[in-house]
Amino acid sequence: SAEIEAYKDKIRRLLIEKDACLVAHYYTDDLIQQLADETGGCVADSLEMARFGSRHSASTLIVAGVRFMGETAKILNPEKRILMPTLEATCSLDIGCPADEFAAFCDQHPDHEVVVYANTSAAVKARADWVVTSSIALQVAEHLADQGKKIIWAPDKHLGEYIRKETGVDMLLWDGSCIVHEEFKAKGILDLKQVYPDAAVLVHPESPDAVVEIADAVGSTSQLIKSAQELPNETLIVATDRGIFYKMQQAAPGKRFLEAPTGGSGAACRSCAHCPWMAMNGLDNILSALENGTDEILVDEDLMVRARRPLQRMLDFSA
Ligand code: 13P
Ligand code: SF4
Repeated sequence: SAEIEAYKDKIRRLLIEKDACLVAHYYTDDLIQQLADETGGCVADSLEMARFGSRHSASTLIVAGVRFMGETAKILNPEKRILMPTLEATCSLDIGCPADEFAAFCDQHPDHEVVVYANTSAAVKARADWVVTSSIALQVAEHLADQGKKIIWAPDKHLGEYIRKETGVDMLLWDGSCIVHEEFKAKGILDLKQVYPDAAVLVHPESPDAVVEIADAVGSTSQLIKSAQELPNETLIVATDRGIFYKMQQAAPGKRFLEAPTGGSGAACRSCAHCPWMAMNGLDNILSALENGTDEILVDEDLMVRARRPLQRMLDFSA
């Protein structure tokens, strides 16, 4: 519509004026992903967002996603101004892992290497030996298992359980989960496969074990997009946030994409296949962040120094 085009035009102009760049996650609104592509920004998974933000020369990054993504950008690029459409966009994994409780848990197991998912606060990262995202979690865990290390894994218990099964690493699990992925149901997926017997099932590893077990491909958002392209199947049942369909359809045009069934429906399921925090990002608040410099990510200096070590280790490991 004309209103949307007006927003996009203003944002395009301000991105140039303010030496800014738009970095968006695959779960954000199609319009945001489109604009990021059109303006030389990026649309990516959480690891690639971190890499892109560090490589790009813009002095301001607009991070459309959730808070930990903005914090990661700030920690890796303290000299840059990091704005978010809204600082209220958080993540149930981050909420479910308070830094003080987590530190106490780690203190009880000093012989364990501490591995935390990127979906955590800067303070939790500061207590970690490693940060991982879903796209390199397996490789890091294998590396640690090879060295005979025992690990603490936080906060996602489903991702942790998957990694433990795949690598056999000795693991203590924090009890956290993603409210979006937790809702996918193996039974519903198997029922859908009755209707589409040739369909392949693509699953993000934040989903429950029973769902991961029936997957044809398990991986991060970018890995799932790649699988959609590479698998021969014409129909794909996808267990992750529906925002991913925008890029999946571009990557595999002509294929049929089906949302994996969840437990709830309608108002009973606020977060069915769509993250309520990712949904807080819109063209309107991107524009106001650019216009007014609002919703800037600021992280305590000392915390940044401590959280940078395990984050940089992840980037170096995956380079
Ligand atoms: P990815 O790193 O796979 O993009 O995952 C981020 C996330 O929040 C998934 O829910
Ligand atoms: Fe967090 Fe889940 Fe939302 Fe990803 S989809 S940001 S893990 S709540």
